[in-house]
Amino acid sequence: MNASVESMIHVSDELVFNLSNDSISYIFRVSPEGILEHIHFGSRVAPSSGLSAEPRRAFRCTVLEYQGVKNYNLDDTPQEYPLFGTSDMRHPALHLINAQGNTTNILLYKSHRISSDKPALNGLPSSRGGDSQTLVVCLVDTVSKLEVELNYTVYREHDVIARSSSIKNVGENAVCLKTAMSSALDLPQGDYELVHFRGSWAREFEQERMPMPHGRFAIESARGTSSNAHNPFLAVMNKGTDEQYGDVYATALMYSGNFAITAEKNEFESVRICAGINPFNFQWKLESGESFSTPESLQVFSAAGLGGMSQVWHAFIKQHVSPSQFKDVPRPTYLNSWEAAYFDVSHEVVLGLADQAKEMGAQMLVLDDGWFAGRNDDTTSLGDWFSDEKKFPQGVEETARQVKEKGLKFGLWFEPEMVNKESQLYRDHPEWLIQVPERTLSTGRGQNVLDLSRSDVVEYLFERVDSFLSSGLIDYVKWDINRVFSECGSLQLPAERQLEQPHRYMLGLYELVERITSKYPNVLFENCASGGNRFDLGMLRFMSQGWVSDMCDPVGRLSIINGASHLFPLSVLASYIGPVPNHQNGRVTSVKMRKEVGFFAAARGLSLNEDDLSADKKELQDAVALYNETAHDMVSGEFHRLRFTKNEVCWQLISQDKQRVYVGYYHILSSPNLPYRRIKLAGLAADETYRMVSTGATYGGDALTSLGIDLPHVDVVLHQQHSDNSDYMDEGDFSSRLMVFERV
Ligand code: GLA
Repeated sequence: MNASVESMIHVSDELVFNLSNDSISYIFRVSPEGILEHIHFGSRVAPSSGLSAEPRRAFRCTVLEYQGVKNYNLDDTPQEYPLFGTSDMRHPALHLINAQGNTTNILLYKSHRISSDKPALNGLPSSRGGDSQTLVVCLVDTVSKLEVELNYTVYREHDVIARSSSIKNVGENAVCLKTAMSSALDLPQGDYELVHFRGSWAREFEQERMPMPHGRFAIESARGTSSNAHNPFLAVMNKGTDEQYGDVYATALMYSGNFAITAEKNEFESVRICAGINPFNFQWKLESGESFSTPESLQVFSAAGLGGMSQVWHAFIKQHVSPSQFKDVPRPTYLNSWEAAYFDVSHEVVLGLADQAKEMGAQMLVLDDGWFAGRNDDTTSLGDWFSDEKKFPQGVEETARQVKEKGLKFGLWFEPEMVNKESQLYRDHPEWLIQVPERTLSTGRGQNVLDLSRSDVVEYLFERVDSFLSSGLIDYVKWDINRVFSECGSLQLPAERQLEQPHRYMLGLYELVERITSKYPNVLFENCASGGNRFDLGMLRFMSQGWVSDMCDPVGRLSIINGASHLFPLSVLASYIGPVPNHQNGRVTSVKMRKEVGFFAAARGLSLNEDDLSADKKELQDAVALYNETAHDMVSGEFHRLRFTKNEVCWQLISQDKQRVYVGYYHILSSPNLPYRRIKLAGLAADETYRMVSTGATYGGDALTSLGIDLPHVDVVLHQQHSDNSDYMDEGDFSSRLMVFERV
């Protein structure tokens, strides 16, 4: 072990483990009984601080004493990986039916090791190590014959602790896992609030904030994808925390399937946050000698409010989660065929769109749905990943070649995990569907889900996608999934393993995307699931960006981007200017508003038909030119939320080199005689000077951050009398202003 390893993980003779970087610490200890007790997660506490490490033990009436140890009640003891069955009445991190048929298991400290190489997780995505150290703590249950390893990775540059666990059956008989969480965190008594993101199709990432109740609060998915109903993210924070102030403890899972993140406040008011695979409808048979690895859970602490928390996530995801080859690489602007032609695509249509893309100044043409064998609407052909011979007689590859000859990149849409019953694939392999015997299967968008827990399915899909990518003509893939799972089961699994199918599916999916994305590292992959129905760190570990929502009306999009930005950096967000009236909510907005809301994403483009493109040609060309000019700043810059109310949103991005600052201000419904608004910018150097590009006015960084700037005044009436004054926004409803500052 070298000196730098010791500098981040310190283990005292009394077995107090202190994982610290310059700003945060994660501390726990081994109790005299051998139980792993949690001590602290939060601002840095040096190993030498002389902290009193022992959780308090005091007499209470009616509570249990663990193994009869005086005043030692696990229900009131913060722990690292709690179990059920002795004196802790809360939901545990591990719940397992042992070979004796009971669920009383006790894990005691056995050993630990420290490594500067972050170990990969068995078949699951995990964050890259880099400048980090990993502590592995081994626990044993000699009666239930279990060995459990808890992994903790601490990063020097990021206030993140990455956690996972692995459970091994070292007995002779099988055991049955019911709950195997990735992490548990017991916070001390406090006045906490929760923030999480809920939603549905086309209204993903709506923020919900509430006081932490007594009892158990859960966000979860049992529908196969992590889902748009609840993103696998939960922040617990001190009451009153805002964008700048307050302690935040946030958890996000690197998992794309059935997950649960729970927060439980018990009678003694400590709060236990557990994150991992959803225990509901889950069971895993662990034979003698077998191990089970949990997904990775990432825990962030910020003492600087939700804004501070987001800065930690953004930097970490860019550095340790997103594929590194596209880090800081400007994303090409594009024209997508979906809202331009829907299923009516063909060689000629695509070449026509390519010409229009060129004329608009875009850099890529994306051929969305409708290009494969017999796909004329959404009722057929998923699974038959062969070019439609009528629409593309020489194959999609030839169309791609001709598009690229025009100087554009070429992108292609796939929905590999799905099958329509009206397809050759289904006729050949009805056994490849997720299904349970003797039940009529539910459908979603007329389609069924392929059983990726089967290696033959994974192999087929790899071969099909590979057959297109191997042409070397495809620069970008949009990987979609448009329904969730039902009647979950696999014809290949025995009865006692049927509940393993959803997690085995994820292992198959991760194997598939790992093989494809690693074989084609220069292809840009975009994760999509009817928009944000699987927008999570698991998929974004393989794919550089994601289609966060099908909602491309700018007003509908404001809260989606605002919500998503709590966890995700702009580098993983894709957006496009869509048609009006908007196809999802019928709203009519200006190109300006659509351009200026869509501005805050790394991957930007257009999804418009020929008429739309020619009607607003000049404005759209200007929009694409702006997107091209700012592409590098969007993928690499630092994003801040400045204001978010029902009627007003203000965002800011500072370029990586700190030379340019973009401020987007959006005002939804106008009214007369409004109060004047100011906004304080974030993250600027106090002693630098910035020039507002549109007016030429200069401001000190100190003034912009401490006094702020006047926001343009929304007033239709006054503006008519002062029409030369740029202090006004006169668009009425749905108005916006993008302000650009350059460092002088
Ligand atoms: C999903 C996606 C859309 C589009 C269609 C194609 O709905 O979110 O962007 O690709 O599928 O069928």
